Amino acid sequence: MLIQRLRNYVWLIFLFSFVHAQDIHIIPEPVRLVAKNGKFNLSSSTQIVLAGGGNESNAAFLNQYLKQVYGFQLPIRKKQGAWKNVVVLNYDKMEGNTDPAAYRMEVDADKVYIGGHGNSGVFYAIQTLIQLLPVEKKSSLEIPAVEVMDYPRFAYRGMHLDVGRHMFPVDFIKKYIDYIALHKMNTFHWHLTEDQGWRIEIKKYPKLTSVGGYRNGTIVGRYPGTHNTGERYGGFYTQQEIKDVVAYAAKRHITVIPEIELPGHSSAAIAAYPELSCFPQEDTKRAKRSPWHGDTTGKHVQQTWGVFEDVFCPTEYTFKFIENVLDEVMALFPSEYIHIGGDECPKESWKRSAFCQQLMKEKGLKDEHELQSYFIQRVEKYINSKGRKIIGWDEILEGGLAPNATVMSWRGEKGGIAAAKENHQVIMTPGGWCYFDHSQKKNEDSVTIGGYTTVQKVYGYEPIPKELEGEQAKWVLGAQGNVWTEYMTNIRKVEYQIFPRMSALSEVLWSPKTKRNLPWFEQRLLKQFKRYDLWGANYSKAFFEPEKP
Ligand code: ACM
Repeated sequence: MLIQRLRNYVWLIFLFSFVHAQDIHIIPEPVRLVAKNGKFNLSSSTQIVLAGGGNESNAAFLNQYLKQVYGFQLPIRKKQGAWKNVVVLNYDKMEGNTDPAAYRMEVDADKVYIGGHGNSGVFYAIQTLIQLLPVEKKSSLEIPAVEVMDYPRFAYRGMHLDVGRHMFPVDFIKKYIDYIALHKMNTFHWHLTEDQGWRIEIKKYPKLTSVGGYRNGTIVGRYPGTHNTGERYGGFYTQQEIKDVVAYAAKRHITVIPEIELPGHSSAAIAAYPELSCFPQEDTKRAKRSPWHGDTTGKHVQQTWGVFEDVFCPTEYTFKFIENVLDEVMALFPSEYIHIGGDECPKESWKRSAFCQQLMKEKGLKDEHELQSYFIQRVEKYINSKGRKIIGWDEILEGGLAPNATVMSWRGEKGGIAAAKENHQVIMTPGGWCYFDHSQKKNEDSVTIGGYTTVQKVYGYEPIPKELEGEQAKWVLGAQGNVWTEYMTNIRKVEYQIFPRMSALSEVLWSPKTKRNLPWFEQRLLKQFKRYDLWGANYSKAFFEPEKP
C-alpha cells in the first residue's frame, strides 16, 4: 500500500516536472536542461549580484531588456549579502569545456544563479533567462525552477545585412545587433559598399560618400522594374556612428565584420573616383532593361540591381586607394577578419583593357581569373601585414585561393567543401538555406528576390557537409544568414524576412546536432512568435499557412 502510494507520488512529481518542462520553450535549445519543482519570482525588488567581476555590461543588457519589455529594472549590488531574491552573475569553471561561452544556470525559489565559464557565458545565460520569462507583460515574472548546462556547437554564428541597396538608421542597426544577441549569435557581417551606394565615411576620400553614397533614383518593383522612383536616395554611416555601433556590439559579445567589396560591385566607388575604373572616360553602363533617372553621361551610382561590368582596375592607383580605405576601416573595426567581397566580378573590362592584358603578361597570369586571384592576394598581403585576415565569397577560389583566406560559401556548399579540402577556414552561407532574402511562401504579399526557403528548411540545414570527413570538418567555423536588401526598403520588411528563419538558424549553430528535433522546435516557435510580439518585431506568418511542397 505504502509502496503503491509512493509510486503514485513519484509519478505525480514526474508528471508535474513534465508539465513544467512544457512551459519551457528556449531557442536555441540548450545542451542540457532539467526542469525542477518550484519557481522564482522576479520583480523590481530582485537584485542583480555582481559576484564575478566585469559583469556590468551583462547586467546592463538584462536591465535594458526588462525595462524595454516589462517596464522595470533591477538594482545592482556587489557580492555582499544573502543570496535571496537575487540574480547572481558569477563564473564557474566548466569541467572539460574551455569555451568561454559555456555556462550553467540554476533557478530555485531564492535565486537565479548564473556561472559563466567566461564573460560571454554569463551573457548567453542571460539570454536563456530572458527566454524563461513569461511572454505577458507583468510586474512579477514567474520563472520555472531549472538547471541548465550549455555551450555553443559552432564558433561562428552570423547574420549579415546589406546596407548598400537600402540603408537603415543606426537605431535599427543596434536593434538588429540585439536580435543577434538574443539568439546567442556572435557575428554581424556589415555589407557596407555596393554598386548602389557606398555607406562608410572614409576621411581620405570624401567623395565616396558625398557622391558614392547617393543614387538619383531606384527601380520600382521586381527587376528590371516597372518605373523609377526618380528620387535621390542614400546616406552613409559616419566614423563616429560606426565606432558607436562596434562598441554597442562588443558589449553584446558580437564582432562586427565590415565588408568592403572588391574588385566587383564597385560602381559607387567608381562614380566617386572614376580613375578606379579601367575606362574612366566611359559613361556608366546602365542595365538596358531598367528605367533610369537623370544624367546618363559620366560615372553614376547604379539605380537597378544586378552585376555590372565596370569594376576596379588593378592599377597602382587602385591598390593605393584600397590600402588607404582599409587603413581607416581597420582602425574602426577591431575584428580579426575583414571581408573583401570578391564575388560576381565580370571580366569584360579587364579583357578589353590594354593595361590589364599587359599586366597579365608581366605577371605570368594565364587568364582573368588569375588576375582576380592576383588582385585578392595583393589585398590579402596588405591586410595580413596589419595582423588581420580576409574573408571572401567563394569566387576567390577561382584562379587560386589566397594563402590565408577564409571562404564564405554562397553558391551552394561546393566552394566551402573545396576550401576545407585545401585546409582553409570556411563559413557556410549556401543560398538554398541561408539566404533570408528568399520567399517564405509561394505568394508573398510584396516582392522578394524569389526562391523558396521555409523556416523548416533552414532548421534542417547541416553546416558540415557529408563530403567533409573527420578532421576536414573542423575547417567549417559555422554559418550565417544573409540579408540582401534589394527588395527590403524598410525595417518592417527586414524583420519579416529574418523572422522566424533566424531563430531556426540560431539553433542549427548553437545546439548539439543530436538535439535537432523539428516538431519540438515548431512547438517552441509558437512561444517565440509571442516574443517577437513583445519586441514589437514584424515576422512572417507563413508558418501558419502550410503549403504543399
Ligand atoms: C552574393 O550573394 N553575391 C554573395
